[in-house]
Amino acid sequence: MDNEFDTRSDLMIFGALGDLARRKLFPALYQLERSGLLARESRVLALARKNIDTEEARSLLATHLQDRIADAELDSEALARLVGRVEYQRIDFSEPSHYEGLNGWRDGSSNALIVYMATPPSLYGVIARNLRDSACCTRKTRVVVEKPIGHDLETSRIINDQLADVYREDQIFRIDHYLGKETVQNLIALRFANNFFASQWDQNHISHVEITVAESVGIEGRWGYFDKAGQIRDMIQNHLLQLLCLIAMDPPADLSADSIRDEKVKVLKALKPITPDLMETHLVRGQYAAGSSLGQSVPGYLDEEGADRNSTTETFVALKVEIENWRWAGVPFYIRTGKRLPEKLSQIIIHFKPAPHYIFDPDQKHLANNKLIIRLQPDEGMTLQILTKDQGLDKGMRLRRGPLELTFSEAFGADRTPDAYERLLWEVMKGSQYLFVRRDEVEHAWRWVDRLITTWSDHDPYPKRYASGTWGPVASIAMITRDGRSWYEDA
Ligand code: BG6
Repeated sequence: MDNEFDTRSDLMIFGALGDLARRKLFPALYQLERSGLLARESRVLALARKNIDTEEARSLLATHLQDRIADAELDSEALARLVGRVEYQRIDFSEPSHYEGLNGWRDGSSNALIVYMATPPSLYGVIARNLRDSACCTRKTRVVVEKPIGHDLETSRIINDQLADVYREDQIFRIDHYLGKETVQNLIALRFANNFFASQWDQNHISHVEITVAESVGIEGRWGYFDKAGQIRDMIQNHLLQLLCLIAMDPPADLSADSIRDEKVKVLKALKPITPDLMETHLVRGQYAAGSSLGQSVPGYLDEEGADRNSTTETFVALKVEIENWRWAGVPFYIRTGKRLPEKLSQIIIHFKPAPHYIFDPDQKHLANNKLIIRLQPDEGMTLQILTKDQGLDKGMRLRRGPLELTFSEAFGADRTPDAYERLLWEVMKGSQYLFVRRDEVEHAWRWVDRLITTWSDHDPYPKRYASGTWGPVASIAMITRDGRSWYEDA
């Protein structure tokens, strides 16, 4: 079905020698090439500040991909084909005359033009303007930008306005790479293709929801960026709120980009603000101290390279989020995310309410709710915990909790899960926006997050310390225990 789309593209990558392009974009293009998805006519123009020529750029790229791609996935012919598509041009992003030659590269090509801004967001406006002034963009151009879109609502508006000056909203593809993850897309299938779940998905049947996005790594040398952002802007404003929206939204009328995004926006609008009176019970901020990560001693956040020892930036956030609408009234969403936690793990746990009348052994009453565990990464799949009778004559009607298990790699025999960027680049080539974030989503998310940041800055700017390799400050355990619940790993 994907082949029905015309995916012939001229892809301009601004910032082509940067971290994002090297770590994500070129490996994703390589995988698309390897799987035969890159149209024969598609071409890549790599643009960066470094003064090298196309041959040098190709050789850098080839070496980099050889180091990065797993041996089992290395196909030298595919690699040569991809590298052969790439041309390089040195550019000073803010110099209008450097854009003049870009039309020459296009040379009347009828391929869709995709402009990928793999640069800091502060450059989006200048690149867009220079492209417009050099008459390089057409009404069919698609422009791809990365998070963070701004630092708060006001700065996100400035960036969005700069883009809107040049492009219509249906030309702008804002990436939240979580939306490109296979398992995140599966949330839509799970919820709306299975009537069984659809009928259970509300406050009558669900007691609470847990969303955890944990990382074992620290900030990986990104002090300059991270210390200004913190975990709230780096992860909650985008990835976590997107996951929450996909779990909480109402069924869209169809799978079109706007139907899905309209429903997500309704959730964002219904988020209850975390006001000063709720800080104690609804918010925990943490910052990692020294400890051990995957068996190695690691320094604390304040001892990372380049650190400001007085920084109050958080590397961990746990929140109790409430959604003020009919479907979710009274159902807390406990969400948490942090760096230097014990493992890399993203999962969503739906805790269903127990049956209205319990007739089994009172000692086992704590078992009496079903849980749906959705593993986004690693070990992608899902487990539905159900209750059955324990086997054996001597067991009477003792209950036992057992899993209905679906592990995607076993069930579907896939040898690899495509990286999010493969999917996202492929969708841009198809011209489909359903995995990209619309302007109003970004702005509603910022509105809620800005308010939260103001609340803590005014009332309690100091994050709580937690040892690296633990699940965050004990206060995050207290937050959920206060409600008579526990995080999944403590249950
Ligand atoms: C990025 C954040 O958006 O997502 C990083 O900027 C974080 O700080 C990363 O490490 C996590 O992504 P993933 O796909 O590895 O879970």
